[in-house]
Amino acid sequence: MGKNVLVLNGSPRRNGNTAALVDAFAEGAAQAGHDVVRFDVALMDIAPCRGCLGGGADADSPCVQKDDMDAVYAAYRAADVVVLASPMYCWSVTAQEKAVLDRLFALMEAGMRAAEAAAAEAGGKGCVLLMPAEEDTERNFAPVVSYYEVLCERMGWRDLGRVLAGGVYRVGDIAGNPALDDARELGASLR
Ligand SMILES: Cc1cc2nc3c(=O)[nH]c(=O)nc-3n(C[C@H](O)[C@H](O)[C@H](O)COP(=O)(O)O)c2cc1C
Repeated sequence: MGKNVLVLNGSPRRNGNTAALVDAFAEGAAQAGHDVVRFDVALMDIAPCRGCLGGGADADSPCVQKDDMDAVYAAYRAADVVVLASPMYCWSVTAQEKAVLDRLFALMEAGMRAAEAAAAEAGGKGCVLLMPAEEDTERNFAPVVSYYEVLCERMGWRDLGRVLAGGVYRVGDIAGNPALDDARELGASLR
C-alpha cells in the first residue's frame, strides 16, 4: 500500500544539492506508488521555538506561534514516513530544519506523545536522512548521525535509511553523484 511521505527540506538553496537528493528520492517513491508531500521549510515562515511550554491547547494548531508550522503539523500527523533532508551546517542540520524539529514539541504538548508511543509500538513512522556536505569523512558525519539516531529513538521513528553525500559544496556539485541513485533506490524501497 502507498505510504504518505513527508519531506522536510531544510536547505535555503532552492536548487541545491539537498534539492537534488530530494528530487531523486521523491522520484523513486512516486514510482513505487507512494504519495510525497514536500516542504521547503527554509523558504517558509517558520519561527524558532520560544520555549514557552504553553502549547497544546489546540490540537490542530498546537503552538502559540501562528505561522507555516500549522501546515507541517497536519502533514506530520498524516505521514507514515518523515524525510529529514538538509545540508550539513556546522555538523548538524540547518537552523531552519532544526526549528521545525523543535516546534514538533508542541504536538507532544497536545497529547501526541501518547499517540506516538502507541504508534511506535504498532510500527511507528519511518524516517529517512538525506544530507549533502562538503567534507566526505566518517568523522565529519559522526555528530549528525548520532543526533539522527537519538532523534529516531526518542521520537519513536524507525530508521529506513540514510544517504550521506560528502564531497559536494556548490550548487550542482552533486550532478552525476552515485548518492542520487542511492536516494532514488531508497525512495523506491519504502515499506
Ligand atoms: C553555514 C554553512 C555551514 C556548513 N557546515 C558544513 C560542515 O559542518 N561540514 C561540511 O562538510 N560541510 C558544511 N557546509 C557545506 C554544505 O553542507 C554543502 O555546501 C552542501 O552541499 C549544501 O547543500 P545545499 O546545496 O542543499 O544547500 C556548510 C555550508 C554552509 C553554508
